[in-house]
Amino acid sequence: MSEVRKAAIPVAGMGTRFLPVTKAVPKELLPVGTKPTLQIVIEEAAASGIEEVVLITSPDKQEITNFFRTDTAYDQKLKAAGKEALLDGLSDLLKKVKITTAPQENPKGLGHAILCAKEAVCDEPFIVILPDVLIESRTPCCKQLIDAYKKTGCAVNATEHTPKSQIHLYGIYDIERSENKFHYASAVIEKPSAEEAPSDLSVVGRYLFPAETFKILEETPPGKNNEIQLADAMNTLAKMGKMVAYEYEGRQFDTGDPAGFLQANIFYGYKNHKKEIEQFMEEVINHSQSAV
Ligand code: G1P
Repeated sequence: MSEVRKAAIPVAGMGTRFLPVTKAVPKELLPVGTKPTLQIVIEEAAASGIEEVVLITSPDKQEITNFFRTDTAYDQKLKAAGKEALLDGLSDLLKKVKITTAPQENPKGLGHAILCAKEAVCDEPFIVILPDVLIESRTPCCKQLIDAYKKTGCAVNATEHTPKSQIHLYGIYDIERSENKFHYASAVIEKPSAEEAPSDLSVVGRYLFPAETFKILEETPPGKNNEIQLADAMNTLAKMGKMVAYEYEGRQFDTGDPAGFLQANIFYGYKNHKKEIEQFMEEVINHSQSAV
């Protein structure tokens, strides 16, 4: 079984849920604390042993590639001032992981985005990270998927039980059989209503695909919205008995949603500045109670 060395991260989206800021700043560079969410997920990949990250980029979002450059005028000024340490782990991260790019000129769905990484990934199994999703866990989530892949030899996607009220936001699995935390899927249904959903196990934004997935994507006809849907390719893998939904250990923050983005900032803010946030939250709650 080949080692899993590469990860593909689609970053070409327009980020319309975060307008107006995304008119000037790509969504993936919006920070939790002072660190862009994209850096946080690449740190997860590096901590999982990933050596190369392929960013699937839009020509309109040069800021992302600039962020990972080490030779800008800004970098030179930082170096001259002896302040490189303020980059908060970015320089060390770039020593561990090679960042490459694959262009996605016209976004035609998540499946199409992943297909754009085909040449960069070559004939190897690979991780897909949806950078909206931050995962807090003891073992990095990508590493959990690599271990599950080594055990099963199948495509693996992180999954978790999802409250009824949120089912319509996610891909949902139909499960053929389960062995503890390994659920062999017979199908994936993209964003069903709570009534239609065959289970409450949702698609979480971390995947590991065998190299053959590129061929499957190439043969996947456009589906919903006339786009190449990753869920359709996952359905093909499921029909082949090769799609495992793995109940990962940890919790996710969906920073693609403005409320989830705030939650991530509060969670990590609290972790890093416990006393200040505790005091502040007390003030906020007292203030809002006295205001009603
Ligand atoms: C995408 C996928 C969906 C998955 C979700 C996870 O949806 O299409 O299957 O459950 O990510 O975050 P999006 O959030 O891009 O609408």
